[in-house]
Amino acid sequence: MARTIGIDLGTTNSVVAFVENGRPETIPNPEGSKLTPSVVIYTATETVVGELAKRQLVTNPGDGVRSIKRLMGKRFSEVSGIVEDFPYKVVEGDDDRAEVELGRGAVIAPEAVSADVLARLRQTAEDYLGEEITQAVITVPAYFNDAQRTATKIAAEMAGLEALRLLNEPTAAALAYGAGRSNDEIIAVFDFGGGTFDVSILQLRDDIFEVLSTCGDTHLGGDDLDLRLMTEICDEILQQTGIDPTQDSQAMARIHEAAEKAKREISSVTSTEISLPFIVADSKGPKHYTRTLKREDFVTMVQPILDRLIEPCEQAIKDAGLTVDKIQNVLLVGGSTRIPRVAEMVKDYFKREPNRSVNPDEAVALGAAIQGGVMSGSLAEVLLLDVTPLSLGIELAGGVFKPLISRNSSIPCEASRKFTTVVDNQTVVLVNVLQGERKIAAENRQIAQFRLTGIPAMPRELPEIMVRFQIDANGILEVAAMDLTSGQQTGIVVEGYGQLAADKREAQKAVVEAEKAAIADEMFARFAERRTRAERFQNSIQRIIEAGGSSIIEEDLKAMKETMFRHDLAINDRDELGMATAEERLQELIDKYSSYLAVNDALGAQFDFKPAANEGIATHPSMTDDDFAAEMKRLEDEAHAAVAANQAAKSEKAAETQQPTAAGAGPGGGAAPPPLEEEEDEDEMKKRKRPKAMKLIRDDEKPKFMEEGIDSGFDPANFAPPPPPPGS
Ligand SMILES: Nc1ncnc2c1ncn2[C@@H]1O[C@H](COP(=O)(O)OP(=O)(O)OP(=O)(O)O)[C@@H](O)[C@H]1O
Ligand SMILES: [Mg+2]
Repeated sequence: MARTIGIDLGTTNSVVAFVENGRPETIPNPEGSKLTPSVVIYTATETVVGELAKRQLVTNPGDGVRSIKRLMGKRFSEVSGIVEDFPYKVVEGDDDRAEVELGRGAVIAPEAVSADVLARLRQTAEDYLGEEITQAVITVPAYFNDAQRTATKIAAEMAGLEALRLLNEPTAAALAYGAGRSNDEIIAVFDFGGGTFDVSILQLRDDIFEVLSTCGDTHLGGDDLDLRLMTEICDEILQQTGIDPTQDSQAMARIHEAAEKAKREISSVTSTEISLPFIVADSKGPKHYTRTLKREDFVTMVQPILDRLIEPCEQAIKDAGLTVDKIQNVLLVGGSTRIPRVAEMVKDYFKREPNRSVNPDEAVALGAAIQGGVMSGSLAEVLLLDVTPLSLGIELAGGVFKPLISRNSSIPCEASRKFTTVVDNQTVVLVNVLQGERKIAAENRQIAQFRLTGIPAMPRELPEIMVRFQIDANGILEVAAMDLTSGQQTGIVVEGYGQLAADKREAQKAVVEAEKAAIADEMFARFAERRTRAERFQNSIQRIIEAGGSSIIEEDLKAMKETMFRHDLAINDRDELGMATAEERLQELIDKYSSYLAVNDALGAQFDFKPAANEGIATHPSMTDDDFAAEMKRLEDEAHAAVAANQAAKSEKAAETQQPTAAGAGPGGGAAPPPLEEEEDEDEMKKRKRPKAMKLIRDDEKPKFMEEGIDSGFDPANFAPPPPPPGS
């Protein structure tokens, strides 16, 4: 299987890693460093990424972009008030998109900048491993929202990488620390990087990684410390020379570089020199700036910023329902945790020495590589509970499960969809919230249930009911339903829904079972949908009979009643072909008397679905989204094809009777069963063997299906189930 690399796409630095012989390793870039600065320079002729770009930033600040991660997935209107906070010019693109304007006036999307960083990492990995790389697990801050995650995925795509998974950074760090060792402990991941700070509390149990809570500050990082030191330097330059360096972008780039360098140096020495020769100039000539920076001076300077680290820790512990003494290990992640004062504060707060077993710069990328190894099958499965362990959705009428959030979606996430009622004057819908992988609602786990009342009485399919699922970064699920006409809404909050699947075996079992039952489930779902459609015919005919009364031609009335009877039987017997045949006739009658139908009924009868993605909830289904329409069309085509095939077979047979010499001709064993003949009497219809396929949905009957193969009464042409999932 192709190798999947792990990428920590950082605000300041990015790291790429892979798994070899079951162990994750970071890959050095051509400059020999494991950290590639997330900096890109766009000159008129070339794009430079990484270390070289970072160096060129000093001489060519206008063409360079750093800290692009801060702008990923942002709307211009979101950032228009804080554009000065970005180290590049942010402008408004189409559709309120935030874009970067380079010195030359060229405009570039944040995704494209990230894509250049990713492409560079991909190249680094390809050169190092000597193979083509097309798949990656990419990490994102736990707090990234949908738009930011989507932007990251787009960037990956632009870089020729399929982002197999967007993994939350703290989870990745925890993986690097805990994967492969059997443990049962609660840890805190304290990630203080270049742009963001986040702290997460995780429960590790063998190979289950459950995120209990996560908290942080998206605008707290090493950059802020640099900025603080830069302000100090600029003030001193102004005092000493009377010249304000902040107006000179090249001087500012040099000051930034010097400040960041000094900041890093005093993490390992107690005092360092900052030297900026020729930093400003006036008519009398150039001016130089030098100063000694002592560690304690720096700490005094930045302590108010560092103080902001504590509150998120308190909040995270509280959100996890714990107290600080329950935290058994604290992992330090991110370059800024190398600051001795930060480590000291962590120690003071958590009352224990932080764990230094993983490299703070590499932990996130190593964890991403581990996840990549798991996904490409080279490492044993781990269960990450910061993704939805199983699909979440609701029950539709007909007992079909409709997932809104699919399994393994990274949280936080949200999804909404429109549904409708399926019986006239339905004023209440039951929202049955389920978790699982089976299409049969009853086979999944119910996690909540509520009713939305107060829907105005209307013909079926007219109400529009919006159902929204939302899972926040702490795994709290909120389900809300709203009737769009009346504005009535209600909802429910489910905390710790993930724990329902916290037993790894249980989650895996659910997936395996769903795979095994996929064919039967598919049949169930399709038939449930099919039956709904069938019921619409009946409903329309009923209305025609009611509305038309004596003006319906007697012969037609008889045909209606008779065909409805046959149709009923076919529905009960789950005889798709019988249903299709009856429906063809019913449609003719509906067409003839369509003037007696309300507009809505006529639409329903013709399956001319409303453009809104409506689906019926509870009592009776009426899925009306495009997928369903397409699926129905397919079913219908299949049924028509079966009728046609049968007619062809019949005429062939007739020809055969006339010309007995046509040897070997005749319906094949797999051909569709004969269609209902008009003259066939009821008893005959009852006697006829019906497809037994629908019985296979029951678990206890499944082995029979698996072992004995398809019963001769089952005709796959009637159902055309999808191919079984690979490996089953
Ligand atoms: N020895 C050090 N002492 C102090 N700060 C350091 C040290 N080494 C690196 N840093 C700082 O760490 C920051 C970069 O950390 P890191 O590479 O973990 O961030 P990132 O992953 O790019 O950012 P984020 O996680 O916020 O997206 C920079 O601000 C850098 O100056
Ligand atoms: Mg980071």
